[in-house]
Amino acid sequence: MDIAALAARAPVIPVLTVERLADALPLARALVKGGLPVLEITFRTGMAVEALAAIAREVPGAIVGAGTVLDERQLRQAIDAGARFGVSPGCTAALAQAVKASGLPFLPGVQTVSDALAARERGFSVLKFFPADTAGGPGWLKAVAAPLAGLRFCPTGGIGIETAPAYLALPNVACVGGSWVAPRDAVAAGDWLRIEHLASQAAALKRS
Ligand code: 3PG
Repeated sequence: MDIAALAARAPVIPVLTVERLADALPLARALVKGGLPVLEITFRTGMAVEALAAIAREVPGAIVGAGTVLDERQLRQAIDAGARFGVSPGCTAALAQAVKASGLPFLPGVQTVSDALAARERGFSVLKFFPADTAGGPGWLKAVAAPLAGLRFCPTGGIGIETAPAYLALPNVACVGGSWVAPRDAVAAGDWLRIEHLASQAAALKRS
C-alpha cells in the first residue's frame, strides 16, 4: 500500500508517543475500533520499537508505521519491527536515499516551498507539512496549491478536532496527523473508551 492509499484509509493519522509498553495494544485497539486504522508510533521513547512490533503482530486491522524517523538506523529499526510506513519531521538527502532504497512508503516532513521541491525531486509526492499550525496552517496549503500542483500534504502539528476541518477541506490535503485523539491523561488513566470516542469523532471528519 503506498502513502496515498494509506492516507485514503482515514482522515486522521493518530500520532502516538507510547510511554509504557503495556499501553500499546489497548491504545491501538481503541483507535482501530473507533475507525482510525493507520497509526504512527513516534520513535521518541525507549520502547517505541517494541510497541510498534507488538501492534503490528497483535492488532488486526491496524496499519502501523514509525514516526520521527530521523536517520537510516531508525528506518532500519522501523522496517525490522514491521512498520508499514514511516514519517519524518524533515528530510535530508541521506534519509531520502535510504528510504528510496528500502521501498518503505514514507511521508517526509517539509515546512517550506523549497523543502517541498527538494522532496519532489527525490520522488515523493505526499508530504508531511510540519509543524502545520505554526508554519502557516491552512493558509500556507492554499497558497502553495497552484505552484505545487501534484503534491499532496498530511499537515501535522498543533491540529485538533476544531481545526482539522479547515485542513481537510483543501484538495491538496490527503489527511491530517495529530496526537489529540490519544491525550496523555487518557492514556495514563487507561481510559480506552474516551480514546475510542475521540477516534470515532475524528474518523467522521469529512474530506474535500
Ligand atoms: C508529530 O510528531 O507529528 C507531532 O508531535 C504531532 O503534533 P501534535 O502533538 O501537535 O498533534
